[in-house]
Amino acid sequence: MNASLRQRLTYWLVGPLLLLVAAGSFVSYRIAFNAATKAYDSALLDPVLAIASHIRRTGDRLELDLPSIAIEALRIDTEDRVYYKVLGPEGELIAGTPQLPTPPERLAPDEHVFYDATFDGERVRVAARAVTVENGTAVVHVAETLVKRDKLVLELLIASTAPQLLIAAAAVALVWFGIGQGLKPLDRLREEIAARSPRDLRAVREDHPQEVQPLVGAVNRLLSRLNAAIESRQRFIANAAHQLRTPLAGLKTHAELARRQPSTVELKSLLDMIAQETGRTSHLVNQLLTLARAEPGETASGQPVNLHELIGRDVRDWVQRALSKNIDLGFELEDAWTLGEPLLLRELFANLLDNALAYTQAGGSVTVRTQGRDGEAVLEVEDNGPGIPETEREKVFERFYRVAATGGEGCGLGLSIVAEIADRHNGRVDLAAPASGRGTLIRAVFPRLATHTTRVVVPAATRTVPMSR
Ligand SMILES: Nc1ncnc2c1ncn2[C@@H]1O[C@H](COP(=O)(O)OP(=O)(O)O)[C@@H](O)[C@H]1O
Ligand SMILES: [Mg+2]
Repeated sequence: MNASLRQRLTYWLVGPLLLLVAAGSFVSYRIAFNAATKAYDSALLDPVLAIASHIRRTGDRLELDLPSIAIEALRIDTEDRVYYKVLGPEGELIAGTPQLPTPPERLAPDEHVFYDATFDGERVRVAARAVTVENGTAVVHVAETLVKRDKLVLELLIASTAPQLLIAAAAVALVWFGIGQGLKPLDRLREEIAARSPRDLRAVREDHPQEVQPLVGAVNRLLSRLNAAIESRQRFIANAAHQLRTPLAGLKTHAELARRQPSTVELKSLLDMIAQETGRTSHLVNQLLTLARAEPGETASGQPVNLHELIGRDVRDWVQRALSKNIDLGFELEDAWTLGEPLLLRELFANLLDNALAYTQAGGSVTVRTQGRDGEAVLEVEDNGPGIPETEREKVFERFYRVAATGGEGCGLGLSIVAEIADRHNGRVDLAAPASGRGTLIRAVFPRLATHTTRVVVPAATRTVPMSR
């Protein structure tokens, strides 16, 4: 739901407030009602007593010795009709309206009672009193209709509810206004962010109320990540451009020189250089493309890949290269299944082995291993070359980073491609020195694909391609 914060808070207040108002009104109404009923009841007792004092014995009968004028006066009431009834000791009617309802319980002498009843289709309140006469007790009843009582009830109800409703309404209005004031900082924050230029990725001011702080913090962390991402991208582009410029400039000069050359021998050496530089440029462009492909964001269409098979396919080419540099290249391959893109994984392996063959001295040895164990599919390339100094081991994974004084034709992208591809396959790359202490051991570790773990395993530790020297 997208209702405003203010609306929500107000809804939450209005319901409970109305309940409170209802409860409060009810309580104060009951108190006032009881007090009013008591007052009216005691007023109703007056005519009862007046009538009681006029009961006389005449002969062997009791009668009411009250002039009809006085009785009429008793019955006059501005709003209500008043009725009366007097019963003798045997329950015989002495005076008044015989149909008036009698009290719910028997009265002791000189006791009185008030009760509600209906008479002639109307609700009435009755006061009844037992009066001692010579030979027993007579009972005097006076009833009145409820017009003025009902009127009073309504007045009491209004009097007790209206002020509470007013207070509640005022409270809601205050809360509405207060929330608006309280949320002002959010408005200011919104304005501040809206007013920014799209290039302005500086952190947002932190001096906001406590409740807004986490939001501002999250926004700022996002901004700083965005900043880092943009900076890294810009550095990358600048480096790529720089790296492309050098071989291209060389190509251009050498091509121009070649044009002016009469001698075929010199021409040949210049063309050789052009060919070499063209090779380097296209390698660089290929690496850049691989890197772009390995970047996250593209849809990863993973398929089961056996690192063993993947590497086995290119063994011949690699052996050729190793032979030409007189390096002892060995393969110790076990099945190692993972989920991934064969092309990218092949590229990862190619970059690792390319480094090992490029930086290991002639006469050295390089070993490639694959293993599936403990939920991991591992690809290892070990050499006994110069190794990578401990201080450089993190940096070599940066784009375009090469260890100072490294010869060869690399552009410094190889290991960053390796890291990028491993990352994309939820894997990681460890760089260490081999157990022998000399050389480099790089290990790419991927999640192992469980469904393919029961494959036949090629015996480990076989040097599949013994090199002749
Ligand atoms: N097997 C290795 N033995 C020694 N040094 C290596 C090895 N692999 C990589 N390096 C060092 O790491 C640096 C970065 O490697 P890489 O990213 O592949 O770039 P490049 O090979 O193009 O220079 C290399 O310049 C090299 O100095
Ligand atoms: Mg390399």
